[in-house]
Amino acid sequence: MSQTSPYPIVQKTRPTFYFIGVTTGKSSINRVFPLWTAELGHPEVVLEGIDCKLNDDPEAYRRAVAQIKYDPMSLGGLVTAHKINLLNAARDMFDYLDPYAVLCGEVSSISKRDGRLEGHAKDPITSGLSLDAIIEPGYFARTGGDILCYGAGGSAVAIALHLIRKTDAGDRPRRFVVVNRSQGRLDHLREMVSGLQTDIQFEYILNSDPLRNDAIMEQSPEGTIVINATGMGKDTPGSPITNAGLFPRHSIAWELNYRGELDFMHQAIAQKGSRQVKIEDGWVYFVHGWTQVIAQVYHVEIDAARFARLDALANSIRG
Ligand SMILES: NC(=O)c1ccc[n+]([C@@H]2O[C@H](COP(=O)([O-])OP(=O)(O)OC[C@H]3O[C@@H](n4cnc5c(N)ncnc54)[C@H](OP(=O)(O)O)[C@@H]3O)[C@@H](O)[C@H]2O)c1
Repeated sequence: MSQTSPYPIVQKTRPTFYFIGVTTGKSSINRVFPLWTAELGHPEVVLEGIDCKLNDDPEAYRRAVAQIKYDPMSLGGLVTAHKINLLNAARDMFDYLDPYAVLCGEVSSISKRDGRLEGHAKDPITSGLSLDAIIEPGYFARTGGDILCYGAGGSAVAIALHLIRKTDAGDRPRRFVVVNRSQGRLDHLREMVSGLQTDIQFEYILNSDPLRNDAIMEQSPEGTIVINATGMGKDTPGSPITNAGLFPRHSIAWELNYRGELDFMHQAIAQKGSRQVKIEDGWVYFVHGWTQVIAQVYHVEIDAARFARLDALANSIRG
């Protein structure tokens, strides 16, 4: 790793773990991290947030990566909401990308090993662990539900990959319908899917009109898992659907976030009884996402017992 950074670097005096996000100061990780890092035997490590705008200037991502790469006390970090854009902007700065990062075109974990800067895409693992905690084995065979995913960003790509990889046919939906407001992300997902063997029918819909999103949702079969992977209700205001949009009966509404206005989740809660909607937020995803990246940055293994302790500590903060 070269010692000279093309960008100004802050020489940290304490080991620092970065959180590259949008509104990092508001995340529960600020309270959870000190408990977790002490539990893992690294109480000296501090967490520092780097807020970037959505679709920020590529230079902002390169500066953040350079800080980690060139400052010896900067250990690594977790990336949310910018996983694809950050890799697009700073691919040449990484010495190693794991196979998921290459396949998905994103990084959620930045770490160092033997002086090399490494990027990993943990979302296919963490979104999978989260989805598996929400549904029981054979869910799609039992219900006949589809996946309807609003948003075709990093999380949508990861969830798609996780489902494609399911070996038991009953764990794969018949259809994966994905709606995005810009074409590029749809093309990116289509390209990834086209390189893989799958019997899941993917449908790519370019749309940002909430009324049309309502109509798409209303055509989905019972038991469909409707995912808000747009960041709306946290990163940006609103919801991809309107208050009038009807969730499929016996569906699962999965809001990927656990904080913010969470309009989509509240719309689902309003139909919990009338449409038998099961509601899930992003808390479990949050715990899996962070623990996987911390394990990578600290080069430790988080087995089931350790995960249970970290989960309990996180839940003690959540209340
Ligand atoms: N709980 C957790 O730990 C956890 C873990 C992962 C993700 N998340 C959250 O999940 C959200 C998505 O994450 P991500 O990494 O997938 O973000 P991302 O890569 O930025 O993707 C968001 C996608 O949503 C699209 N979009 C925005 N508004 C839309 C609308 N009205 N209709 C259709 N598509 C719309 C965007 O379209 P464009 O193509 O126009 O940009 C973009 O492709 C974020 O808020 C993130 O914080 C939470």
